Amino acid sequence: MAKLKVYVTRMICDNGIKMLKDQGYDVKINPLDRILTKKELLKNVKGIDALLCLLTDKIDAEVMDAAGKNLKIVANFAVGFDNLDLEAAKIRGIMATNTPQGSTEAVAEHAMGLLLASARRIVEADKFTRANKYKGWKPFLFIGEDIHDKTLGIIGLGRIGFAVAARALCFGLKIVYHDVVRNPEFEAKFGGKFLETSELLKQSDFVTLHVPLMPSTRHLIGKKELALMKKSAYLINTSRGAVIDEKALVAALKKKQIAGAAIDVYEFEPKLSPGLTKLNNIILTPHIASATIETRMKMSEIAAQNIIETLGGKVPAHSLHK
Ligand code: DGY
Repeated sequence: MAKLKVYVTRMICDNGIKMLKDQGYDVKINPLDRILTKKELLKNVKGIDALLCLLTDKIDAEVMDAAGKNLKIVANFAVGFDNLDLEAAKIRGIMATNTPQGSTEAVAEHAMGLLLASARRIVEADKFTRANKYKGWKPFLFIGEDIHDKTLGIIGLGRIGFAVAARALCFGLKIVYHDVVRNPEFEAKFGGKFLETSELLKQSDFVTLHVPLMPSTRHLIGKKELALMKKSAYLINTSRGAVIDEKALVAALKKKQIAGAAIDVYEFEPKLSPGLTKLNNIILTPHIASATIETRMKMSEIAAQNIIETLGGKVPAHSLHK
């Protein structure tokens, strides 16, 4: 019997690759350390049974059709799945999966890191010290602000939002949240108060975003929402760039409408909106919130498991189809 074919669009941790090979699949991995062009992707997927792809690969109807009738699963190596055309997959009877759980803790840790770095001006202070500008202790040198007793607004209370809340409590933050559904369990456990988004924006000292990118969350934070935030507030984004209207964010930061922002994701990734790098009231990291070795290994294992379950005729644990 011919071996089932799996194509992996970029090298990932080899624990997942080993799991696939141990099943006897014919596993091919893009040997180039770069994102494949659409043309390369269309060529490389021909005749495969499973595709393991990254958030940088746009998997649409054209790619699915190029793969052909054997394609049974598109396994995304990410929790976010805005790069997949789920509707096109469903129509064609193709499973689509993501890797939730894999990155929850790492993303929450990064979000807290960005929050702490913003309030305590860690990035600015590092640059200053490195430039040999430190000439002695001063009472107001890099004066920041306390985190404890401040209010953290969490928008999107999935696994990551929950994990951020758990960490925030240890730092003495009060928590308010907004999600499409209220979560009484969360309210009881974390003392988190449910607020409508506009009220959350008005009351929070820090706002952190943890929603998936969907038509309803695109530009969730724009000019109007930024205007609701406190002048002393910080906006943190480790979800997807387009959840924020980046142009509006640049304008708000320029006129110091809010104190600052710290973002790991970009609306036109990997391009940065004009003016973003000129601002000194923003911290920018290159989509690394989930970049820990432990997380990458978990993501690799979960993506491989999704493929094994699907090719084995089961509904995988992380199906994205409703
Ligand atoms: C995700 O999982 O969606 C992250 O953005 C990348 O690891």
